[in-house]
Amino acid sequence: MPSINRRKFLSGTVALFGAAGFRYPIWALANPNGDRTPSPLLLGVDYYPDQTPEALWVEDARMMAEFGFTNVRIAEFAWALMEPEEGNFDFVWLRRAVQTLHKYNIAVILGTPSAAPPPWLTAKYPEIVEVNAQGAPLHPGGRRFTCPTNKTYRRLSLAIASQMARTFADAPGVIGWQIDNELTLGSSARCYCNYCQAGFQEWLRSKYGSLDNLNRTWGTVFWSQTYTDFSQIPVPLPSGGDPNPGLALDYNRYQSYANSSYLEEQLAVLRKTCPGHFVTTNNVGIPLDIIDLRSLYEKLDFVAFDNYPGFFEMLLHEQSKSGSVSWDYINTTIAMEHDFARRLHGKPFMIMEQQSGKAGQRTFSPQPNSGQLRLWTYQAVAHGAMGVNYFRWDTATFGAEEYWHGILNHDRSKSPGYDEIKQTVKELKALGQDLLTANYPAETALIFDYDCDWALQIQPGHSGLSYVAQITSWYGAIASNHSGIDIIAPGADLAAYKIVFAPVVYVLSEAQAVRIKSFVQNGGVFVTNFRLGAKNETSQMARTPLPGLLRDVMGVTVEDYVPIYSAKQGVKFSSTLAGADGESGIWGDILKPDAAEVLGTYTSGAYAGRAAITMNSFGKGKAVYIGADLDPASLNRVLRGFSASAGVRQLLDVPSGVEVTVRKSDRKRWIFLLNHTATVQTVDIPAPHTDLLTGERQTRTVSLSAYGVRVLQAS
Ligand code: GAL
Repeated sequence: MPSINRRKFLSGTVALFGAAGFRYPIWALANPNGDRTPSPLLLGVDYYPDQTPEALWVEDARMMAEFGFTNVRIAEFAWALMEPEEGNFDFVWLRRAVQTLHKYNIAVILGTPSAAPPPWLTAKYPEIVEVNAQGAPLHPGGRRFTCPTNKTYRRLSLAIASQMARTFADAPGVIGWQIDNELTLGSSARCYCNYCQAGFQEWLRSKYGSLDNLNRTWGTVFWSQTYTDFSQIPVPLPSGGDPNPGLALDYNRYQSYANSSYLEEQLAVLRKTCPGHFVTTNNVGIPLDIIDLRSLYEKLDFVAFDNYPGFFEMLLHEQSKSGSVSWDYINTTIAMEHDFARRLHGKPFMIMEQQSGKAGQRTFSPQPNSGQLRLWTYQAVAHGAMGVNYFRWDTATFGAEEYWHGILNHDRSKSPGYDEIKQTVKELKALGQDLLTANYPAETALIFDYDCDWALQIQPGHSGLSYVAQITSWYGAIASNHSGIDIIAPGADLAAYKIVFAPVVYVLSEAQAVRIKSFVQNGGVFVTNFRLGAKNETSQMARTPLPGLLRDVMGVTVEDYVPIYSAKQGVKFSSTLAGADGESGIWGDILKPDAAEVLGTYTSGAYAGRAAITMNSFGKGKAVYIGADLDPASLNRVLRGFSASAGVRQLLDVPSGVEVTVRKSDRKRWIFLLNHTATVQTVDIPAPHTDLLTGERQTRTVSLSAYGVRVLQAS
């Protein structure tokens, strides 16, 4: 087998997507006999031999090979079969499954099974269950009901992972690992049990050193909460009033840390025992924001996410009062997830679970429209994915996910999406390494900061104010010029970007203020909005006039800040922003320009005539403060205007619902056109291109079928 080990894999990951890259054909991992055309992509499927009669394994492997799949992910929920009683391990069946798959050139990603402990374990160690935010323990019977701190659970998770690692370190066909499965994505995200309380106290002791320091930092003199021993510190369970915001924010950080350190215990064993394998985990991105995914993935080899657009539509529908859901919103959120995944690690990412049919548990989404399964795969690749695994091969005929449809139906006939996915796999393999390893250029950055998110969840100021919702609507507005966005950490280097957007910088550290200041001083454009610098990272309010640490850069003072309920505030735009009047929805910061120019004013309410939007020249750059929570149309116009004036060029003018992304190598450029609408769309291109999927030469106007995709290369 032309083997690849982790070192080779990583050394092959060079300079892609601006900063990091991927040159080594990962297909080599999945091409044990070297008898197929190499492809730089992993294109596989999530498979459950543990749930499938062994008599069908050969047929499955043969069909997968015929389908064109390179790999599977297996075993992540098979703990009860692998360790039927404590310390008694049985991997014989799994070895046979791996061997069968390997015989058909299907490589294997193994999942460690810690998301679903078997009944013998919970019966023997009932203390390992998670306690929810109301203080109620979860019960065995589902999955994802365990505490991330509990030492017994950690020991048992590590034991099964270690045995698996030893058993499969040299097994032909095994290429990598997924640790656990979607950490924290259960009915209750954070754990509030006694073990977590003790873990939190330890974590605080090492963070603050002394109780004096902790008491001062949190301001525990308020409501007589001064702690005289670390063991007195509670977790934020229901009390007669809200918890101390400093404690609550630190608890979110602790829970994130507990999950990451839980994962890292398994990682350490896998690194040591299986140096030739890659290791990752699967999660979803921004909307489910319990773990700081930057730390979770930091020591892993690459980021893997799960992606279910149709299921997302169903969830939104169930939550929406009117029942109407915008596919624009869904497509934008998914594009944002991909951009987030790409920058999390600075390396190509993988979709570990991609919707392949109707999806859901008690209720389920309809079959995606013809073309959508292909479109969603291309969307991931267009944003930088180097692998897509479809969930799942067959459809379970028992268990809680009988409605989660796979590539085969319950009766093992072909699902409605079978041919489309097969065709997509074939096309992607033919696209070639040049394109699939090309850069994803972005001149624009959007900062996503977990501290701001978590602190605002604790005290939103207005029940309608959500950091994730703000990030999503800003992403949507900025992305509408189709010029490429990196979603970056607050500590990231800003120098590579022409313009940096950062909504609701509610928590602002000194270090972050310095970075922003120097970015603007050196010619960058920084665009932000209300609540800027209201808190420091200990969750205390700024003691200086707002926007606190960035007052000089922004050239304004916040005179007042106003949550808006029934009466929306009108906004009139002026100067470079002149255009149709807008509205401020849930928030208004009232600005007093010190040095900044006024670009918008409130037109109604107590603050009519006062500044709502300002722009300051600072050093060689500009700093924009949008005090109003602008309606979507105004936000779109205003943010796009700032992008254009920062010199970000819109490559193509496309109809609404069509997405454009660009991949670039030293010599070539490719344009992905993705039609997310159910109707034919046309796009004018400036120069002749060849569509790599059809081989057609396109000279001026390119037509896109419903949910169609084009991959254009200049010709
Ligand atoms: C994911 C999870 C899988 C499976 C799938 C469909 O969230 O990782 O194990 O449950 O959804 O429900």
